[in-house]
Amino acid sequence: MLRKNGTEKMHVDMKTRSMTSGCLERSVSWWFNLDVGNNINSSLNSLPLHPDVAHLEWLLGHWESKTLGQGTYPTIKSFHYHEQANFTHCGQPLLDYAFYAFHGDTGRPLHREVGFLRPRAGTDQIALIGAQNTGLSIVEEGEVRGKEITLTSHSVSRITFGKEPRVVKTKRILSLDQDGKLRQCFSMATSNQEMRPHLEITYCRLSQMLSRVTEKWDMVL
Ligand code: HEM
Repeated sequence: MLRKNGTEKMHVDMKTRSMTSGCLERSVSWWFNLDVGNNINSSLNSLPLHPDVAHLEWLLGHWESKTLGQGTYPTIKSFHYHEQANFTHCGQPLLDYAFYAFHGDTGRPLHREVGFLRPRAGTDQIALIGAQNTGLSIVEEGEVRGKEITLTSHSVSRITFGKEPRVVKTKRILSLDQDGKLRQCFSMATSNQEMRPHLEITYCRLSQMLSRVTEKWDMVL
């Protein structure tokens, strides 16, 4: 539907089934005043950036390693990899993130991680809540200082049938270099190694997500 001001008004009708009320069907309708097509993700990306994540705007967008990332650990053969990193938002006071790693030679998909970066409003505190295809789920907490985020794991859980060794502690730094490149350094301690570097990679920005800090949508959870 085209509005008077020429912008597209998109109607997203999501039908959900309530598990608790005997399959009662209800309809949730959202109206966005957005100049976009029918893709809900790109529509969400065009929403105003929540003021509580305005200090993380430098992360927003799609990034990709232009030079191979380096992987290392005392117990494994060193390796190289490509990685895509995406930081998006949907108007809530958090960022959605995803890291997709690929084999440096073959391009075969390897490590994958998705989650959220959730700052504590009015402070420099931040939490990363992430899930990995290796069966790990990690909550890391730390702080944002300018264009650098330093995180240390607060809890690490994993599937019961995960491979040994177990990850017991993680540390990572996400930072923006002066030349506009994003850098990630990741270290871990396992059930048989103390804290040691595992990953180091630099990403170039492929596209920047537009953002407008105009509204406040508070979290209900
Ligand atoms: C960020 C979260 C990550 C965690 C917690 C993690 C954890 C681990 C652990 C626990 C090991 C086994 C170490 C050992 O055998 O002593 C490992 C190995 C390995 N990781 Fe990661 N990793 C992560 C990210 C990545 C990424 C992004 C890549 C990119 C390709 C990667 C590639 C590898 C490779 C190739 C091995 C060696 C596997 C083998 O030789 O069996 N990891 N990782």
